[in-house]
Amino acid sequence: MGPSNGTDAARADSEAGAEMAAESGGAEPAGAGVALVGLREVSKSFGENLVLNRIDLEIERGAAVVIAGPSGSGKSTLLRCINGLESVDSGELRFEGRPVDYSGKALSRLRAEIGMVFQQFNLFPHMTVRDNIVLGPVKGKGVSREDARRRARELLERVGIPEKEDEFPADLSGGQQQRVAIARALAMDPKLMLFDEPTSALDPEMIREVLDVMRDLARDGMTMVVVTHEMGFAREACDRIVFIDAGQIVEQGPPDEFFHEAKSTRAKEFVDKIIHH
Ligand SMILES: Nc1ncnc2c1ncn2[C@@H]1O[C@H](COP(=O)(O)OP(=O)(O)OP(=O)(O)O)[C@@H](O)[C@H]1O
Ligand SMILES: [Mg+2]
Repeated sequence: MGPSNGTDAARADSEAGAEMAAESGGAEPAGAGVALVGLREVSKSFGENLVLNRIDLEIERGAAVVIAGPSGSGKSTLLRCINGLESVDSGELRFEGRPVDYSGKALSRLRAEIGMVFQQFNLFPHMTVRDNIVLGPVKGKGVSREDARRRARELLERVGIPEKEDEFPADLSGGQQQRVAIARALAMDPKLMLFDEPTSALDPEMIREVLDVMRDLARDGMTMVVVTHEMGFAREACDRIVFIDAGQIVEQGPPDEFFHEAKSTRAKEFVDKIIHH
């Protein structure tokens, strides 16, 4: 399948969603037609260190967006602000069109709607693969254990390791553990998936299998923001690359444009380094 098919499908999905919302006339659900995530002039400092500097960013429903940039540029902090793990100092963060509310209950609701996958898989070592996946929906969403198990099985199928459900994380390869982590996040039916360098702790032969799962997710219309150095993935599977340096969005655009016609010197240098290293 060509690279454009996935993004077209994703776009068609999100457009269908927007149309359905529009057809419901005056009684539009909050946030219909607006970006799933919107940041306006978001800034964040740690002490004297200005880590995010007036970030303007919109993540449309169904979009797969890659965040790229040098180490320390603020990529992880940006993701952590989006799911409320960090509060922003100034500017505005919206989810589904509504300003993010940092009070306890609202924040847990927000986090339940956003799946996060980290470099380190963070699976519970004393639980089987299935129990790792079942836990969130049962404890956090009141799903029955039986339904959660059925769903866990489907999700393991989807990430390509249905045979691992009774095993413990330590008996799985890194690539398999990361696929379990993705299944666990998906079990919560998130509206958004955030990935923070999901393949950078993996041996090279396992990177592909994780990226393939992510590519399929993007193709199926999941809204995702992915911090990664895997520019092959960025090129094939994402709609847009956002390049950030020193806490600022320097440039953003479709992958082809970014790789071949970067406008800023900093983005050009970054592309050169990544392509020729
Ligand atoms: N909790 C924190 N307390 C203090 N400083 C922090 C904290 N988190 C991040 N920083 C600082 O903020 C800056 C940006 O960090 P961040 O982790 O967002 O960068 P990054 O782009 O994800 O880098 P990398 O590619 O190395 O993961 C760095 O200078 C970092 O030291
Ligand atoms: Mg980081």
